Amino acid sequence: MKVVIIGAGNVATVLGRRIKQSGHEVLQVVSRKKESAKILADELECPFTDNGGTMDRDAGLYLLAVSDDAMTGFDNSYHLDDKLVVHTAGSVSKDVLKDFSSSYGVMYPLQSLNKNILPQPLNIPLLIDANTDDVLARLEEFAQTLSQNVSRANDQLRLNLHVAAVLVNNFTNHLHFLAADYCKHEGADFKLLLPLIEETALRLRYHMPDEMRTGPAVRKDIKTLQRHLRLLADYPAIHNIYLKMTDSIMQSADAI
Ligand SMILES: NC(=O)c1ccc[n+]([C@@H]2O[C@H](COP(=O)([O-])OP(=O)(O)OC[C@H]3O[C@@H](n4cnc5c(N)ncnc54)[C@H](OP(=O)(O)O)[C@@H]3O)[C@@H](O)[C@H]2O)c1
Repeated sequence: MKVVIIGAGNVATVLGRRIKQSGHEVLQVVSRKKESAKILADELECPFTDNGGTMDRDAGLYLLAVSDDAMTGFDNSYHLDDKLVVHTAGSVSKDVLKDFSSSYGVMYPLQSLNKNILPQPLNIPLLIDANTDDVLARLEEFAQTLSQNVSRANDQLRLNLHVAAVLVNNFTNHLHFLAADYCKHEGADFKLLLPLIEETALRLRYHMPDEMRTGPAVRKDIKTLQRHLRLLADYPAIHNIYLKMTDSIMQSADAI
């Protein structure tokens, strides 16, 4: 299929690479800044323009991978008749695209995508939705050329999964960030924690999180918790999160 990619950030780049590797033709990259459009277009070996330029009208699919807020304020002079237009956001309704085309939908990658981290994940879970059954079937056929992990999810389910994704990915990564910073300041090697991090993630293949609970908060080892909190007095951000997480773990342990 011929594809125009709108946006040149992480999702546009990672999906753009996959689209090209899967044998589709990227006709053009369109982005807010010409420089970002050029970088992606050079990699995908196609022409580019900025938002003010002329969009190629010959594509079968227009992939809108811009930030969530930019999508709602996007210039709808880009009317694309009945061309398939999809966005990639978890928390934005497909209906933001109704003024762009009579065939619109969503192809949401339920994965953390970063154009600078290689190799790219294989079989990115793609959650798809569209305004009619016919459009959904067309989008599904396209999505299945990119990944073996394609499923359908309406606006509400996608939103729910996006919330869960923020908890398991963005929040976990922030905890890793804080722990790495803490280790650096205390002269401890953060890399020593990698086997623990990996084992925690791998166990989820076979166990639910409630079966994997260990640690001082679950055991209610109050003296250990107090010792940790004293050590964190110089790290107010971590101290705050430690207290809130401990409280939440204790409450959920009581609820089980
Ligand atoms: N990254 C992920 O892990 C991930 C996963 C699933 C879904 N998503 C969704 O995918 C979408 C893109 O995310 P991303 O991570 O690729 O974001 P990103 O790396 O920050 O890239 C955002 C893109 O939006 C463009 N943009 C920003 N404001 C704009 C405006 N006012 N008009 C036109 N273009 C504008 C930027 O263009 P310039 O560079 O030209 O300024 C850039 O190309 C979002 O809806 C996000 O929720 C992201």
